Amino acid sequence: MSAHTHAIPPAAFHAIEWHHQSLHLLDQRVLPHEHRMNEYTTAAEVADAIRDMVVRGAPAIGIAAAYGYALDALAGRDMQQAYHVLAQSRPTAVNLFWALERMAGLGTEDAHALVAEARKIHEEDILANQAMGNYGASLLHPDSLIYTHCNTGALATGGHGTALGVIRSGFADGKVKQVYAGETRPWLQGARLTAWELMQDNIPVSLVCDGAAAQLFRRESIDWVIVGADRITANGDVANKIGTYSLAVLAKHHGINVMVVAPTTTFDLSLRSGDDIPIEQRPKEEVTSLNGQPVAPHGCDAINPSFDVTPAGLIDVIATEKGLIMQPDESSVAMLFARG
Ligand code: MRU
Repeated sequence: MSAHTHAIPPAAFHAIEWHHQSLHLLDQRVLPHEHRMNEYTTAAEVADAIRDMVVRGAPAIGIAAAYGYALDALAGRDMQQAYHVLAQSRPTAVNLFWALERMAGLGTEDAHALVAEARKIHEEDILANQAMGNYGASLLHPDSLIYTHCNTGALATGGHGTALGVIRSGFADGKVKQVYAGETRPWLQGARLTAWELMQDNIPVSLVCDGAAAQLFRRESIDWVIVGADRITANGDVANKIGTYSLAVLAKHHGINVMVVAPTTTFDLSLRSGDDIPIEQRPKEEVTSLNGQPVAPHGCDAINPSFDVTPAGLIDVIATEKGLIMQPDESSVAMLFARG
């Protein structure tokens, strides 16, 4: 892996780039203050980048894994080993396993075919984001106040974003008055990434401590909580960044609508309910420290589940590239997939 750093560009960015037969990832660990592109040439390096959160967000993890798999084909390495090492990187986002299955399912070790497939996965994700952005935005009324959590934008996907894609499309249609971005402890995706993306697009955003959401919901007329997903089961339960479940409970209490935005590649129809989703446990140092500085007493224990599960009953709509699932449950989810 090699890296080069320069000042933050004012214009658009790409989180994932493929050129000169190597993968280039915008290092999300150092944003928003540093713009560093890292170069990767092996599947094992890409697996480390996914585990260490250089690249994160369910669709982006899937795209990076597809390119990582292609890298080992280019170098003539063992493809089963490439699959295995990438599959071990992070357990919750099903897009990772979906992408690896699609790459391995080609049944070839031809590097050019595999690079082309990875590029296709990348391009399809951008198109899916735009489609679900339009579907989701069609539900917003003018001057909407929206609360979002984690980062679901161009950094977390092939481009445009899932929940942030709906916000971007809604803003372009003149429907978004104000976005509230939850800071998303412990990793601060909301503070470091979402606020940065929205500010670059001149979309009004206020940062909110996670613990301030309840008071905000009580005092302001928030219209929507809009979030992404890492895995959605056959009954419409949603695994997403830790804190999503509490927001959905709070939204129900305050009569606020909840929209989940995700491509169909985030659905895992092999699992009946959210209870079956593997939840990643990350290092406790992410909780006991902030930016590498200890904030808790030396030796303090901590728990750090990276995701939680929101039951389908707390969700009003799931926006996908194939259309909207209103009041998600087993039959409404099955109906969307039956459309083909
Ligand atoms: O741990 P992360 O940053 O990979 O978690 C990301 C999220 O939980 C996102 O909300 C989810 O992947 C949907 S992003 C398009």
